[in-house]
Amino acid sequence: MPTHTPTAVTPSVTDVLEVRRHPLCGPSDRMPARYRGPHRLGHAGWLGFTERLERREEIALVRSATAASHRVLDVGGGTGELTRAVASQLGRCTTVEPHGSRVATLNAHAGDSRTGTVEPVPGHAESLPFPDRSFDAVLAAWVLPYVDDLEQSVREMARVCDIGHPQARVVLIGGAPDNELVGLLNETCVPLTGEPLDHQGFLLATAAEILAPLGFRHFSLHRTEAALHFPETAPEERVHAAAGSLVGLWYEDHPRAPDMRRAIAPALRRHFARRPHAIGDQGVALIARPNPPQE
Ligand SMILES: C[S@@+](CC[C@H](N)C(=O)[O-])C[C@H]1O[C@@H](n2cnc3c(N)ncnc32)[C@H](O)[C@@H]1O
Repeated sequence: MPTHTPTAVTPSVTDVLEVRRHPLCGPSDRMPARYRGPHRLGHAGWLGFTERLERREEIALVRSATAASHRVLDVGGGTGELTRAVASQLGRCTTVEPHGSRVATLNAHAGDSRTGTVEPVPGHAESLPFPDRSFDAVLAAWVLPYVDDLEQSVREMARVCDIGHPQARVVLIGGAPDNELVGLLNETCVPLTGEPLDHQGFLLATAAEILAPLGFRHFSLHRTEAALHFPETAPEERVHAAAGSLVGLWYEDHPRAPDMRRAIAPALRRHFARRPHAIGDQGVALIARPNPPQE
């Protein structure tokens, strides 16, 4: 396991335009004009991916960002790793998840007393099945790249967040500009699809611009280290495993998936020559609040 650098916390940003210009929302020269549309998260591919992912720092950040909250909604809870981290500290956490078998996994942990109560609710970010102001914190980690309608999803998160609560906040997590995994996919696989390159900072900056007029005007940005681990000793075994993990995340059922696994291999060999057993999945959390942060 790697040693961890401390989580970087930027000073609070109150001008929403500063979020778009912020280095953690870069690269600024490649900021797209519009949402490219959702990636298709592979099911088996993503589960295999999560088994290699170590993100203690991100989990600590989520726990700290919700420590003073009471009612937390985790949008797109997936396997529930972050939902359980919140529930274990607050006693409960609600999550909305559209994927049937992920809801079943979440339900399997629903009554686990060690982790607090997880309350899984089937649904989509674009139409959250809750009344206005039902939660004092709304979290969506690594979800914005998968929604069909980015603007509607963020509006819904603001709607169900109780803007009058002193701790009200929307916490969005996405990839950092130096995210190694996104860099490898952008370099080798995305061009084979004919689709625009992925730009994670665009999603956070756009979300900030949607949230500010809805009253969530105070922003802070926090960087976290995380990585996928490849303990395999034989270098080509590592390349093979990493090609499967990365292509399987976004392109599991894509007709060009075999070409992608071939195309990414040389880039993975170069990557592992520099960082032999890990691929970084560096993240950025954007915290949007109606009130200036006290911490
Ligand atoms: C990469 S996973 C992240 C899961 C979890 N938040 C985490 O960080 O471990 C993305 C999740 O978003 C969910 N998702 C996809 N489209 C969604 C939508 N429109 N509304 C809510 N969740 C969605 C997927 O089913 C998946 O569980």
